[in-house]
Amino acid sequence: MAGKILMVGFGPGDAANMTQRAREAIAEADVVIGYSTYIKLVKNMLDGKEVIRKGMTEEVDRSIEAYQHAKLGKCVALISSGDIGIYGMAGPTYEVLFQAGWSPNSEIKVEIIPGVTALSACASLVGAPLTHDFCSISLSDLLTPWPTIANRVEAAAASDFVVALYNPKSGRRTGQIVEAQKILLRHRDPKTPVAIIKSAYRALQDIQMTTLDKMSEHKIGMLTTVLVGNHTTTIQQGMMVTPRGYANKYESLTGEVKAGERAGHSLGMGLNGWGEVVREWLRDNPNATLKSAADYFMRPVVEIMQAITKQSENDMAGLYEVALVKAEERLNAVTASENWGIIRAIVRSDAGAVAEMVSGNIKFELREEWLNLEQDSFHLHIHWDKVDSVWFSKRGESQRGVYMLDKYGHIVSHLLLAKELDLFDPASEQKFFSSWNSFNE
Ligand SMILES: C[S@@+](CC[C@H](N)C(=O)[O-])C[C@H]1O[C@@H](n2cnc3c(N)ncnc32)[C@H](O)[C@@H]1O
Repeated sequence: MAGKILMVGFGPGDAANMTQRAREAIAEADVVIGYSTYIKLVKNMLDGKEVIRKGMTEEVDRSIEAYQHAKLGKCVALISSGDIGIYGMAGPTYEVLFQAGWSPNSEIKVEIIPGVTALSACASLVGAPLTHDFCSISLSDLLTPWPTIANRVEAAAASDFVVALYNPKSGRRTGQIVEAQKILLRHRDPKTPVAIIKSAYRALQDIQMTTLDKMSEHKIGMLTTVLVGNHTTTIQQGMMVTPRGYANKYESLTGEVKAGERAGHSLGMGLNGWGEVVREWLRDNPNATLKSAADYFMRPVVEIMQAITKQSENDMAGLYEVALVKAEERLNAVTASENWGIIRAIVRSDAGAVAEMVSGNIKFELREEWLNLEQDSFHLHIHWDKVDSVWFSKRGESQRGVYMLDKYGHIVSHLLLAKELDLFDPASEQKFFSSWNSFNE
């Protein structure tokens, strides 16, 4: 008889939150394999079955043993709390099966039975914190390098995701939650709501509502999930709630649609509309730089450039005009500025410093992958392989320049025509526009 491996997620731990299919799968099994705590949680369902209890670290052993029993023709339930595919046994079991040469056409059948995972179980106990975009991050560095975890926390924090932290702390791993808190605090208000839920739907269930600045002072253990709100999450009447976004479109929850919005359609700030908002912002902020617009909208400079190119007579981008340089003319368009006259070659560091080289005597030379801008007292080396697009830009009577952008649309460096006594030299300006007209797409 062909064996079977049923990978069963039995939910947070109580009978009511176990799915019907999980119940059936455990009932059907000849052998039940699991971490000893999980076995205890389903002990009423194990009469007459062979039960194999394993320690927490013996994950791969559990998978190997499941496969060995299935090869003998038995039906094996490999059980895990929550959803077995979420930080659970499903991944390692497939790895063991593939290594053994198993395929979906093999005699041994494999089924994954999903369950209510900790983040949704925990969320349900504290309100509705996950009603908008969220992500889960495990703070366990037993198998994942800390820089990987820290980068994910940083990215989630910067992107304003609600964050569910699994495996936040154990007897040995006490510093990870403190480090995660430090990273989150770099991007979020210290008063951001946080819910700390221990043993959801189990006998020792415990819930603590707190704020990000106090998060790591609370009791947190192995059976805890930590939910960190985004910038819109609130705690009201003891409930942690993340708004769905209705306030972006409606005057109130049951009220009229806001001016400029339409029910059932993307927001004015949706994919097709947000460029219009960029142009309006540039009209309202005539002295804004392209970088400050990009910072304001939290999108790369290239998207601000693209919004400007779509301007029309009734929807101008303030005083800006931009033009994308033909791909084959990128280098020519940049090196042409060698002859414009006095130019300012500008580089910004992400951390906030700006370096400017101002000179009418800068030599441009491409040496291998480096474009070198050199004069006696200053060298600027631009990694030309990183330049993915080149744009000309003009703002009213105040700015003329050429921008080098990387493949992410961020500025590598830009060269601006310098003014003398607050005016552009007419000859220099003519050369600038001649470059614009020659290399423009
Ligand atoms: C190895 S992961 C297993 C996750 C599980 N497969 C799931 O989908 O919920 C263990 C972590 O899940 C979280 N967790 C599991 N059950 C929980 C519960 N009943 N209450 C709170 N957190 C729980 C804790 O963060 C714990 O450290």
